[in-house]
Amino acid sequence: MKTYADLPSDAGSNIIGQVTAQANRLQKRLASVKRTVAIMSGKGGVGKSSLTANIATALTLKGQTVGVVDADINGPTLAKMMGVRNATLEYTPTGVKPAMTALGTKLISMDLLLAEDDAPVLWNAHSQKDAFTWRATMEVGALREFIADTDWGNLDYLLLDLPPGTDRLPNVVELIPNLGGVVVVTIPSEVSQLIVKKSITMARDILKVPIIGVVENMAFYVCQHCGEEGPLFSVDETLDETFQKSILDSIPFDPKLTRCNDNGTPYVDKYPDAPASQALMQVAEKIQTFFNS
Ligand SMILES: Nc1ncnc2c1ncn2[C@@H]1O[C@H](COP(=O)(O)OP(=O)(O)O)[C@@H](O)[C@H]1O
Ligand SMILES: [Mg+2]
Repeated sequence: MKTYADLPSDAGSNIIGQVTAQANRLQKRLASVKRTVAIMSGKGGVGKSSLTANIATALTLKGQTVGVVDADINGPTLAKMMGVRNATLEYTPTGVKPAMTALGTKLISMDLLLAEDDAPVLWNAHSQKDAFTWRATMEVGALREFIADTDWGNLDYLLLDLPPGTDRLPNVVELIPNLGGVVVVTIPSEVSQLIVKKSITMARDILKVPIIGVVENMAFYVCQHCGEEGPLFSVDETLDETFQKSILDSIPFDPKLTRCNDNGTPYVDKYPDAPASQALMQVAEKIQTFFNS
């Protein structure tokens, strides 16, 4: 594949200049961010976005200044989960002002840039053959803009909610070479753990990114009536040894969390005493300990 530098002419668009300027802007923005954390999992539907929204809220409640990048460009859900879908982005000479939740967490998401509710993100490739490369390039470009062109101000934490897929983290590391760490999300099923193990190998062995820990989501359910705990998935599915060593916490399934996500209400704020909230607050605390020790 040719890079920008190989193009014989850029038809006057000074594309190399534009990309360099944006890369410089990205570095400048990151200079005012103390810690960057990617929330990832090879698997979809395991709760990455729910956890990102609630860890961000938990850290905000602990007095930290928090920004969130919804890096799931094709399936953005965080604007809804964090209750800012109706926010209008303000463009200023210093960059786009991120949307802000009632509690003060900042968010930027592709969802805030799409005009219609049912509008999908379309990447136009020249041919089916080019589609994969084109899409990957566009995704990295969009992510770079999200971080570089947003006026985040000073942040204690910038959380990135990654889309599913083991190949997503390298894109992030390309943009943020000194990524502070990753939080890996899995559910107890063997299918999920099989994929998530690959993500851990990618992060730890190939990219050498620090792993803050693993969160086991939807680990069990708590009966709404008697408070008894039971397995949500199969009875004999336990967490693999690879994960057990670095577990941050296990989050139970709680229908109220789903409802909060759908209503755009921060669950940890609304139900602070619920077992899942307590576990989520623990995870936020362990992230703080990771960086402060
Ligand atoms: N611990 C939980 N309890 C109840 N519902 C949950 C929990 N974690 C996630 N969900 C729900 O599961 C669905 C998938 O979660 P989501 O955060 O979108 O996953 P991902 O970002 O990994 O695709 C959502 O509808 C969400 O509300
Ligand atoms: Mg998601």
